Amino acid sequence: MSVSFTHDVPPQRVVFAPGAVAQIGEEAERLKLSRALVVATPGSGGRLGKTVVELLGVRAAALHAQAVIHVPKSVAEAGLAAARAANADGLVAVGGGSAIGLAKIIARDTALPIIAVPTTYSGSEATTIFGITDGARKTTGRDVKVLPRTVIYDPDLTLGLPPAVSAASGMNAMAHCVESFWADGRTPMSLALASEAMRRFANHLPAVVADGADRDARGECLIAAWLSGTVLSVSNGLQHKLAHVLGGLGLPHAEAHAIILPHVTRFNLQAAPDAKTRLAEAFGSADPADALASFLKKFPIPQRLRDIGFDAGKVDFVAGEIAAQAIKSPRPVSAADVRELLNEAY
Ligand SMILES: NC(=O)c1ccc[n+]([C@@H]2O[C@H](COP(=O)([O-])OP(=O)(O)OC[C@H]3O[C@@H](n4cnc5c(N)ncnc54)[C@H](O)[C@@H]3O)[C@@H](O)[C@H]2O)c1
Repeated sequence: MSVSFTHDVPPQRVVFAPGAVAQIGEEAERLKLSRALVVATPGSGGRLGKTVVELLGVRAAALHAQAVIHVPKSVAEAGLAAARAANADGLVAVGGGSAIGLAKIIARDTALPIIAVPTTYSGSEATTIFGITDGARKTTGRDVKVLPRTVIYDPDLTLGLPPAVSAASGMNAMAHCVESFWADGRTPMSLALASEAMRRFANHLPAVVADGADRDARGECLIAAWLSGTVLSVSNGLQHKLAHVLGGLGLPHAEAHAIILPHVTRFNLQAAPDAKTRLAEAFGSADPADALASFLKKFPIPQRLRDIGFDAGKVDFVAGEIAAQAIKSPRPVSAADVRELLNEAY
């Protein structure tokens, strides 16, 4: 047998239950937090933030509901300043990858512990990966300091997540799984978790998008989101590199992932028979790329790169950026391949 792998996953406490957010005070106490800065996005995210501040009571120092997707540098600096002004001894991120992403950058620079309360499916809470955007370029890195120490999954908090966000962040999570099936760093554990996550998403994501109040389906998708997040650390091939470059151009992250996923899958599956078998099992379909395309078609989210503001004049730039990275993929990727893929997705 010629299999070889390295399994290196830092520990993380995970609490999952309907209504689990009520335990936030106890979880903060476990980490000895007495002055937590609650980080959220504005709007509906801010309302979630207020709820968490109330539940934390005296353990909350302040609410900072100013997180923005892809963590622009100025937003990161404002977050750091808020943590220092509040003399925070920990961070509680409530919301999706944007809120968690800001908490991660603050933690990278301060080593403050994070409790994450994720309410989308994108999976950032389970990774050591952080990202920050300066102008048109997004930089990512890995640091164990940014991995939330504790994650509280409360499906009840997701009942009001709009269908489009459920669909896009769910497809983002499916992208983590799909790419982990063929990634170089895959392990028996990542393969098992990704298969299980795909099965749950395939069976329950359409139900959640059709009826956000379907509690059982919400719970299944949140479990799938957790599992997807745990395999994201191995998924750094064409799908994620492309989404990263597109994100740097200002395109919405989850939507960009969703749009390119069927195309990247079709491109790679020809050379990845094991991934194809796993995906075929999850979808109950012999053509998983087609199954992903019909998921996308069913969902109330942008269908093509042109719908999310991708400038066709940037095709060569993106193709050049990807080709320069010599991505490890089941199929070698040339600039011409990327151009063709982008044109199809456009
Ligand atoms: N570092 C990582 O490992 C990692 C992984 C995945 C995504 N990300 C990052 O996460 C960001 C995208 O995150 P996302 O896709 O989770 O979406 P998001 O955090 O941007 O949230 C999308 C929208 O949904 C709203 N929302 C969130 N929860 C809600 C709820 N329960 N009810 C109503 N509205 C709610 C938010 O306010 C926001 O307007 C990107 O910046 C991406 O790069 C990072």
